[in-house]
Amino acid sequence: DEVTAAVLARHPCALTDERCPAAAAARERRPVLVADLAAAPAAAAHLGVGPGDPVAALVAVPVATEPGGRPAAVIVAASDRPGALDPEAVAFVQHLADVAGVGLEAERREASRREAERRLAEMNVRLEERVRERTADLAAAYRELEAFAYSVSHDLRAPLRALDGFSLALLEDYGEALDETGQDYLRRIRAAAQRMAALIDDLLTLSRVSRREMAVAEVDLGALARQVLADLRAAEPGRRVRARVAGGLTARGDPHLLEVALRNLLDNAWKFTRGREDARITVGARRRGGETVYYVRDNGAGFDPRYADKLFVPFQRLHDAAEFPGTGIGLATVQRIVHRHGGRVWAEGGPGRGATFYFTLPTNGGG
Ligand SMILES: Nc1ncnc2c1ncn2[C@@H]1O[C@H](COP(=O)(O)OP(=O)(O)OP(=O)(O)O)[C@@H](O)[C@H]1O
Ligand SMILES: [Mg+2]
Repeated sequence: DEVTAAVLARHPCALTDERCPAAAAARERRPVLVADLAAAPAAAAHLGVGPGDPVAALVAVPVATEPGGRPAAVIVAASDRPGALDPEAVAFVQHLADVAGVGLEAERREASRREAERRLAEMNVRLEERVRERTADLAAAYRELEAFAYSVSHDLRAPLRALDGFSLALLEDYGEALDETGQDYLRRIRAAAQRMAALIDDLLTLSRVSRREMAVAEVDLGALARQVLADLRAAEPGRRVRARVAGGLTARGDPHLLEVALRNLLDNAWKFTRGREDARITVGARRRGGETVYYVRDNGAGFDPRYADKLFVPFQRLHDAAEFPGTGIGLATVQRIVHRHGGRVWAEGGPGRGATFYFTLPTNGGG
């Protein structure tokens, strides 16, 4: 050890140095044995080994992190006896070099793994920042758009009221001046104006549903459903509908929004069972996979299940407006309300086989 240290301490040199056994070992990627330094004066001079020095022979072995690869270091072992370093000694130093190479490689890998980890963490932080920024931008843009849609809808109402009012006045005060066709045109103008007003009102409802602050509380969905059904019966006392609302239907959510959602679903159930003698509407809930799935089921006209997703798109309707009137905004409103509660809503049904609308409300604590 002392001998090796002595050689190395005296020995800083360039890889290209022709006289240096260590440089040669590194260059040629193989062990270089100097069996007798006395017989290699250039090397001895280079290493500063003079007469009286305890170094008489040496072997230089490159240390590479992979077999035959670029050396990362050179191990030099020396002896004070010329010719003492036989092939067995060289093999031993080679073995040491191999072990050192494996160690260096492990260290290199660990360092690069740590570096990769550090860079990944840094990238994650930057990515999260960007997602946060983008989300905030999007939310702001969305709010702006919503506010715009709201004010446009709102402002459209006034000219529409004028249109409706003045066409009524025209019909009443100057009706005689017009023939049947003229009066029919006026009536159509009024009907169109009223239909547009209804559309705008629905859009405003949809918009309010998105903008309203949520106030979450314990809600008795069963009581709400019974109230809505009673209203529907009162509005159409001639219809015979068997309605059943399951007991214990509670949820956590915004009471007003949940009422709007239930009202839309029950409106539909009521409307699309119109043609049935034995109309039935059921409101209930099931525990499924740790969450509560609420449903509103009817045995009415049903719909083509291929379009089950389309129903929730604003103004998408699958039924003829003459047979089942509506603007097609009800289910879009339901979907927004359910989404605001972090839930899902979906529909099942078949033509003539009725429809079932399901929804979840994770604010319920069920996940
Ligand atoms: N219970 C149901 N049975 C069969 N089809 C339904 C049912 N509920 C909704 N649909 C279909 O989905 C469409 C969209 O429903 P949605 O409630 O959004 O609109 P709407 O009832 O036609 O009009 P609005 O609710 O705006 O007055 C309906 O037009 C109908 O085609
Ligand atoms: Mg509807």
